[in-house]
Amino acid sequence: MNTRASRNPLYQDLDLGKLPRHVAIIMDGNGRWAQSRGLERLYGHRRGKASVKAIVELSRKIGIEYLSLYAFSSENWQRPAQEVKGLMNLLKRYLTTELDRMMKNGVRLQVIGNTRRLPSDVRQALRHSVESTKRNKDLTVILALSYSAREEIANAVRAVARRVRRGDLEPDDITEEVIAESLGTAGVPDPDLLIRTSGEVRLSNFLLWQVAYTEIYITETLWPDFREHEFIEALRQFQARERRFGRLPDQPEESVERPSDRAPLRVAR
Ligand code: FPP
Repeated sequence: MNTRASRNPLYQDLDLGKLPRHVAIIMDGNGRWAQSRGLERLYGHRRGKASVKAIVELSRKIGIEYLSLYAFSSENWQRPAQEVKGLMNLLKRYLTTELDRMMKNGVRLQVIGNTRRLPSDVRQALRHSVESTKRNKDLTVILALSYSAREEIANAVRAVARRVRRGDLEPDDITEEVIAESLGTAGVPDPDLLIRTSGEVRLSNFLLWQVAYTEIYITETLWPDFREHEFIEALRQFQARERRFGRLPDQPEESVERPSDRAPLRVAR
């Protein structure tokens, strides 16, 4: 545990020994934040970028291992060209200006999604950041860009089908683990906590496979206003919940089989 962090009054109600390993966030409400102030939507995204910085920094400080951020969905390509361009510029600037800090703070960057659709300068900045940070060990930030969970699952199914066609895999050996390891998040534990800002109560095609047992926290706060206090509150509420993974409330912890420990699930014929 980070003793410096545990002394900070901001975290005094938190049990830093029982943090979620992986927090996923649907960062929503940038547009409404700006429009309610009579500003262009892009101002909301700019403020949203400052929230990203604050939440990454706090996650690292308190010892969260994985942070997944839904930064741009496949559906977001349908937004006005000017907004898409503005978001891509913000992203590129974030990657270039934050790289030093990521290196200093041990932050590793990973990306999921159909990055081939991104402009080449953004792809290049991403490649550089992912490559430069790949040996960092403190916090892994997973940016979901041009991401769709259904597309991710369809890609995984195609990859598994190819293995079967090559004769490397029997259909009966297609387990949940085989599928999980074919997703963009291969090797990353499933999120323990999913946060969605701005009060909408939907998953919006984010990590659909991975959130099967994830605790969901919805807040009315718009993403540009979601800062350290709001994040700590979400973590506090997470810690107050009882995670049962389908078991009974009084069943002893030792007798519980986590979904990931389960014997391979055979596909029904
Ligand atoms: C949703 O708000 C947010 C997005 C589509 C983009 C998220 C981008 C950022 C937080 C800024 C840059 C990101 C990084 C990683 C530096 P919305 O526009 O859908 O809001 P609305 O629902 O109020 O219209």
